[in-house]
Amino acid sequence: MLELTRFFVALQDLFLKMTSSSAADTSIDQLKSRIQQRQAQVGIIGLGYVGLPLALLYSEQKFPVTGFDIDQRKVEALAKGSSYIYRITAEEIQAAKAHGFSATFDYSQLTAMDAIIICVPTPLNEYHEPDLSFITNTTHAIAPYLRAGQLVVLESTTYPGTTEEVMVPILESENKNGLKAARDGAVSGKEFFVAFSPEREDPGNTTVARRDIPKVVGGLNLQAAELACALYGSIFSRTVPVSSPAVAEMTKLLENIYRCVNIALVNELKLLCLRMGIDIWEVIGAASTKPFGFHPFYPGPGLGGHCIPVDPFYLSWKAKEWDFRTRFIELAGEINTNMPYHVLASVSSALNRHKKSVNGARILILGVAYKKDIDDLRESPALTIIELLQKEGAQVSYHDPYFPFIGKGRKYDLQMKCSEMEHLEQYDCILIVTDHSDYDYARIVHEAQLVVDTRNATRGIKSSKIVHC
Ligand SMILES: NC(=O)c1ccc[n+]([C@@H]2O[C@H](COP(=O)([O-])OP(=O)(O)OC[C@H]3O[C@@H](n4cnc5c(N)ncnc54)[C@H](O)[C@@H]3O)[C@@H](O)[C@H]2O)c1
Repeated sequence: MLELTRFFVALQDLFLKMTSSSAADTSIDQLKSRIQQRQAQVGIIGLGYVGLPLALLYSEQKFPVTGFDIDQRKVEALAKGSSYIYRITAEEIQAAKAHGFSATFDYSQLTAMDAIIICVPTPLNEYHEPDLSFITNTTHAIAPYLRAGQLVVLESTTYPGTTEEVMVPILESENKNGLKAARDGAVSGKEFFVAFSPEREDPGNTTVARRDIPKVVGGLNLQAAELACALYGSIFSRTVPVSSPAVAEMTKLLENIYRCVNIALVNELKLLCLRMGIDIWEVIGAASTKPFGFHPFYPGPGLGGHCIPVDPFYLSWKAKEWDFRTRFIELAGEINTNMPYHVLASVSSALNRHKKSVNGARILILGVAYKKDIDDLRESPALTIIELLQKEGAQVSYHDPYFPFIGKGRKYDLQMKCSEMEHLEQYDCILIVTDHSDYDYARIVHEAQLVVDTRNATRGIKSSKIVHC
C-alpha cells in the first residue's frame, strides 16, 4: 500500500513538473515569436552613448521601445524630439518617436516590457576600484516590477561574476512574486531569464556598421541564451553565444585590456624612438605592411574614454579576490597614466628652445575630446594636460568643435569657454591633443609660433615650428 502511495505521489510530482515545464516552454516560445514578429516590448535602461543608439536600432526594426533614465534632462529632450548626442540627429529621435519610442523615469512601466536591457555606467571610484552603484541601483529599481518570463540583459562593462553574483541575487530576493532566475534543471513557470551581452562599439569608427559588430551573448541557462540571441539577432547580423554570463563579461575585458596593453607598448616605444631620433609613426606604418601577426596601435597623449582607462581595473580588482596580480594591466596603466606628464615635459622643453617658460606662456590646446571626431570628454587626457599646464602657471585656452564649453565633471571643474581659431600667432604654443578632421593643419602650422603635436596630425607638413611629442 505504501509503495502504491509513493508511486502516485511520484506520478503527481512528474505531472506537475511536466505541466509547469511546458508552461515555461510555452512562455519562451511566445516570447520568441513576439521577438520574431517585432511585437516584443523592449525596455532600455540608461539612455547614454550605448543605450540611446540601441533603443533607436530596435525602433528602426519596428519594435515597441521604451527608454528609462534617471536624468530628467535626457527624458525631456527625447520627449521634445531632440538629441543630446552629437552623432544622433533630432530627425532620428523623431522617426523613433513616430514608431512609438518614448522615454520615462517611471520604472513601473517595466512590468509591461518583455525584455529589459541595462546600459548604465560602470566607472571607477576615487580609489580606482569598480563602482557598481549604477548597476546595483538599477537592479534594486527593476526588482519590484519583475514578472515571470521577462528577459533581463546587462550590457554595462564589468568584471566576470557581476551578472550572476551581484545582479541575480538582488532580482531574486527583491521581486514581489518569489520569482527565480531560470537556471539549468527543473522549471516551475515562475522564472525570469538573465543574460550578459557586452557593448563592443568603437565610437567614431565608421568602417563597421554597428549591426555588423557580432554580439557576444552569455545566458544564465540555455533558454536565456536562446532568448537573448533571438532578441539581438533581430538587430545584429551575427550573435556569438558563449557558455555563461561570466565568459561574456571576461570577453569584453579581454578586448579592452588587449587594447590598453598594446597602446601602452607603443607609447613606451614612442618615448624610446623620440630619444633615438626615429619616427615611431613611420615604424608603425612599415610594420603594418606585414599581412599577418601584426595589428597597429598608435601612441598618443594618454588614454581616454569610458572604457580603456577604466575597464582593465575592473579585472585587476576582481583578480585580488583570487590572490592574483594582473601585472600587464598594472604596467600598462602606469605607462599610459604617465603620458600627460610626458606632454607637459615636451611643451616645457619646446618653449625652452624659444627661450620661454611654461609659467606665463599662452597655450592653445586643439581638441579636448578623448579621441578624433567624437563629442565625448570622459577621462580625456586633455583635461589632465590642461590642469598640469595651469598648475605650472600657463594661460591655457582650448578649441574643440564638439565642446563650446567645458564645465564640471566627475574629476574636473574647468569652466572654460571654447576659443576662436583666430590670431593663432598670439599663442606661444599650439598643442594638438586630439586630431579632429575639421582642422586645417597646414594653416595652423603656417600661423603658429610653435606647434607641439601629440598625434602626428601634422604629418607631411615640413616646418621647424613642429615638435613631435
Ligand atoms: N560609450 C561607449 O562607447 C561604450 C562602449 C562599450 C561599452 N560601454 C559600456 O556601456 C555602459 C554605458 O556606457 P555609456 O557610455 O552609455 O554611459 P553614459 O554615461 O553615456 O550613459 C549611461 C546612462 O545611464 C543613466 N543612468 C544611470 N543610472 C541609472 C539608473 N539607475 N536608471 C536609469 N538610468 C540610469 C545615466 O543617466 C546615463 O544617461 C558602461 O558600462 C560602459 O563601460 C560604453
